[in-house]
Amino acid sequence: MASQNIESVLHEERTFRPSADFVARARIGTARFDELRRHAAEDHSGFWARLAREELSWHTPFTVSLDESDAPNYRWFTDGRLNVSYNCLDVHLAKRGEKTAIVFEGESGEVRRLSYRELHAEVCRFANALKAQGVGHGDRVAIYMPLVPEIVIAMHACNRIGAIHSVVFGGFSAPALRDRIEDTGAKVLITADGGWRAGQVIELKAAADKALAGACSSIERVIVLKRTGRPVAMQPARDLWWEDAVAGCSRECAPVWVEAEHPLFLLYTSGSTGKPKGIQHSSGGYLLGAKVTTQWVFDLHEDDVYWCTADVGWVTGHSYVAYGPLALGATVVLYEGSPTFPDGGRFWKLCQDHRVSVFYTAPTAIRALMKLGDEVPGGYDLSRLRLLGSVGEPINPEAWVWYHRVIGGGRCPIVDTWWQTETGAILISPLPGVVATKPGSCTLPLPGIEADIVDERGESVTDPHTGGYLVVKKPWPAMLRTLWGDNDRYRVNYWGKFDDRYYVAGDSAHRDEDGYFWIMGRIDDVLNVSGHRLGTMEIESALVSHPRVAEAAVVGKPHDIKGESVFAYVVCRGNRPGGDASALMSELRDWVGEQLGAIAKPDHIRFADNLPKTRSGKIMRRLLRSIARGEDITQDVSTLENPAILDQLRGVEAPAGA
Ligand code: WTA
Repeated sequence: MASQNIESVLHEERTFRPSADFVARARIGTARFDELRRHAAEDHSGFWARLAREELSWHTPFTVSLDESDAPNYRWFTDGRLNVSYNCLDVHLAKRGEKTAIVFEGESGEVRRLSYRELHAEVCRFANALKAQGVGHGDRVAIYMPLVPEIVIAMHACNRIGAIHSVVFGGFSAPALRDRIEDTGAKVLITADGGWRAGQVIELKAAADKALAGACSSIERVIVLKRTGRPVAMQPARDLWWEDAVAGCSRECAPVWVEAEHPLFLLYTSGSTGKPKGIQHSSGGYLLGAKVTTQWVFDLHEDDVYWCTADVGWVTGHSYVAYGPLALGATVVLYEGSPTFPDGGRFWKLCQDHRVSVFYTAPTAIRALMKLGDEVPGGYDLSRLRLLGSVGEPINPEAWVWYHRVIGGGRCPIVDTWWQTETGAILISPLPGVVATKPGSCTLPLPGIEADIVDERGESVTDPHTGGYLVVKKPWPAMLRTLWGDNDRYRVNYWGKFDDRYYVAGDSAHRDEDGYFWIMGRIDDVLNVSGHRLGTMEIESALVSHPRVAEAAVVGKPHDIKGESVFAYVVCRGNRPGGDASALMSELRDWVGEQLGAIAKPDHIRFADNLPKTRSGKIMRRLLRSIARGEDITQDVSTLENPAILDQLRGVEAPAGA
């Protein structure tokens, strides 16, 4: 395990306690926190069942809390029925129908507000439109859209009628979209003509057409939202404008009551093999997790304005934009564009203009904005902010302290939230009115979450300075149910390591003297670039699909802003490129961008005649990682089939093409 990581975080000993003002108003104080923890420890499933009864509105109440008969395929609240959009919209109409649910700002600055009543009406209208297209209970609907209110409307319209949505991040390219649609067997694709990002149009419809060309035979209909107004090609037999789809549709649509275990959505995430995993989430358990964690961790009050900057294409945008905050009746800010458009003050201007009080973003954004200097945020009124959050990767103490001092004015607690696409909701995080924070630590597991750190044999690691596998020892309601179409892979991937006893997150972590958790990073071959998981295998497959590439290996290299950058070793067909290396580098970078999306483009490419392999042909990635980092190789290289290759790999690296 990477001992250097352990060393570097251990130097951090500062502690920050929430202010008396914050504590006085916090929704969860010490007494309530202790009560929650005690109840969870005494009666794990009863604890969650009590919350499910208190927090969710059930059409048919459940009698079964947890069904373990198929463990580790755990099921929660199995005989209950409910509807998720009902729980996020209808329940608010009487008390806060006119309250703003969504404040949307487009990249060009236009602002649109939707009250809960308006959002409810739009969701119903679009749900009726989907029904008119033959979409019903259990059908899959792919969503490939910019970050505009209609993406949230589309998601809730799906769940209102029992359809299962699968959002594909708008920054992904056509082949990535195609693979995901094919895996889900979606009947309908919802997209837009395009979206705005950094002053440019992202051509979503064109990418969708490319994805569907000669593939995705399950798709019967493509619904296209007009966003940019730029001309796009429409296929009359297949494509339908959003505005035409909803024309004449009623603003009322009775919710379809589904079983608690009915899949709410599929969301693809990278694994250590080439094929992305379709994470399947439930309706009842997932919504409960999203709702209570939003309440506990973000301490939302009726007058808060909450902004989570994540795109809805990632899980953070599912749980902490589209579901949790709406279930709580919060006012949610949605911003379409880039954090630095037209300049590096955009996020802070948004906070000022919309009077944001709770702000949740990723370390990569914090580091990028920190680089621009304190004067940029200094030009805006950030005095409304009262709570800050971080998610996606470990936040380095320097960025944490800057976030606290410059953005939070020294008064806002920071919640560093650890979780995953698979966990559905935050599992480890401070409760802001209770737990003192330490820069770089996600602190303690939430009530009802039995997280632990174990060694190879599955024994708890108690030595505060030793790392181990981060595991969860008891099922929790928001956990993934399976991998779509591949339950074996679900069982092996997440439960196999310790004989089905523990959920294995795939992260390594250690605990300090106070029992605080410090996440050290991924154990498998998954990179974390700008807070997003990228499978090294996926990038490698993209590279070797280029006609000039024979073999490729990808590793992560620490990066100041992005957390990790993508470092690729490439073996060409025929001769190693000489003079034309930089041309080929930019060609390969663009190629990967086309296959997977810009986020996966290698930052560095090094050409070689071969890769270091064991005698059984396995690529020694650990060596490649050391070389990428410019470290001395201390590992035993005697098992290498071709040790001489190391000298060549260590050779001077030409910079990656622009
Ligand atoms: C990493 C994002 C440290 C971790 C919600 C995890 C973190 C992976 C944190 C999941 C954090 C997420 N501190 N590491 N606060 N939050 N991670 O599925 O490696 O995109 O396993 O979900 O991100 O990434 P995913």
